[in-house]
Amino acid sequence: MTFSRIAGTGSYLPPKILTNDDLSKIVDTSDEWIRERSGIRERHVVVAGETTSTLAVAAAQRALAAAGVNASEIELLIVGTTTPDLIFPSTACLVQNLLGANGCAAFDVNAACSGFIYALSIADQFIRSGTVKTALVIGAETLTRMTDWTDRATCVLFGDGAGAVVLKADAEAGILSTHLHADGAYRHLLHNPVGVSVGFKENEKNAGVRVMMAGSETFKVAVKTLDSVVTETLNANALDRSAIDWLIPHQANLRIIEATARRLSMPMEKVIVTVDRHGNTSSASVPMALDEGVRSGKIKRGELLLMEAFGGGFTWGSALIRF
Ligand code: UT7
Repeated sequence: MTFSRIAGTGSYLPPKILTNDDLSKIVDTSDEWIRERSGIRERHVVVAGETTSTLAVAAAQRALAAAGVNASEIELLIVGTTTPDLIFPSTACLVQNLLGANGCAAFDVNAACSGFIYALSIADQFIRSGTVKTALVIGAETLTRMTDWTDRATCVLFGDGAGAVVLKADAEAGILSTHLHADGAYRHLLHNPVGVSVGFKENEKNAGVRVMMAGSETFKVAVKTLDSVVTETLNANALDRSAIDWLIPHQANLRIIEATARRLSMPMEKVIVTVDRHGNTSSASVPMALDEGVRSGKIKRGELLLMEAFGGGFTWGSALIRF
């Protein structure tokens, strides 16, 4: 039997930092409100010249170096992103060319904040089926490029960054299971109202590319669905929650992360938290948290990791991994 093993991880944050105090000069907010409601203290933001693909390439190069894999060995390259450089070609094609991995299959997955988990699951199926032996999976976003800087309810939440993993075929697991879900009935609670087919000026009220979110409704569904996907993952693997060594959650809100940790009876020391310094980086948040956990020496080979994410769509998913 063939499994996917994470051979290396990498991440990249654009250098510019925006603090809560910086934001309080732009909109009617405060460091205290943002920290209490979301756990965020600061976030990294792109400047002119930086794009989703440039962040993705920097993260990918670190993951390839950690795995000891050359770009020419990549057979499949998937980028989870909601903020592609262009409508087309895909960000994956841009990244492939910048890395020098030309010729391999390359495509984007748009599952909002669950994009990395979706991309990881797809790459895992390719490896398990024997179709490819080496895959590069990236979560990369420049959400601040579609932030409405006049809307205090959303502009304080998001940040930019990229995370990547190199997957290799192995006789030993590896990725034990992935679980993906979506419910488009919730599309209106978290969305960007414009696009190619509806037009970029849908109506006067919705003109412009920006994130619109009904925060507290989204919060409630996130807690409930993450709760159920965690239970589903444990049941599918006949595992007790005590078996999990590390929870690597999507970093949208510290209170949502704490609720999932409570559900698993996990102390917060066993949860990788980056939301305080990264904000919500959508698809990038899980692979960046994984990389931080690995590079800090917290996460060790052989440990059992539970990743989960929730985002616009709504989409949600999880991955159980023997690292
Ligand atoms: O990554 C994808 C999934 N995303 C999520 O899961 C995010 C889910 N939602 C959340 O994280 C939280 O709902 C927020 C952090 C966005 C908001 O926290 P909340 O506790 O749900 O606050 P709220 O939206 O209910 O707003 C409470 C009050 C409102 O004022 P009133 O109506 O009570 O007078 C808001 O107008 O806080 C006000 N408010 C602010 N005040 C200061 C909203 N944004 C701000 C702000 N600064 N930035």
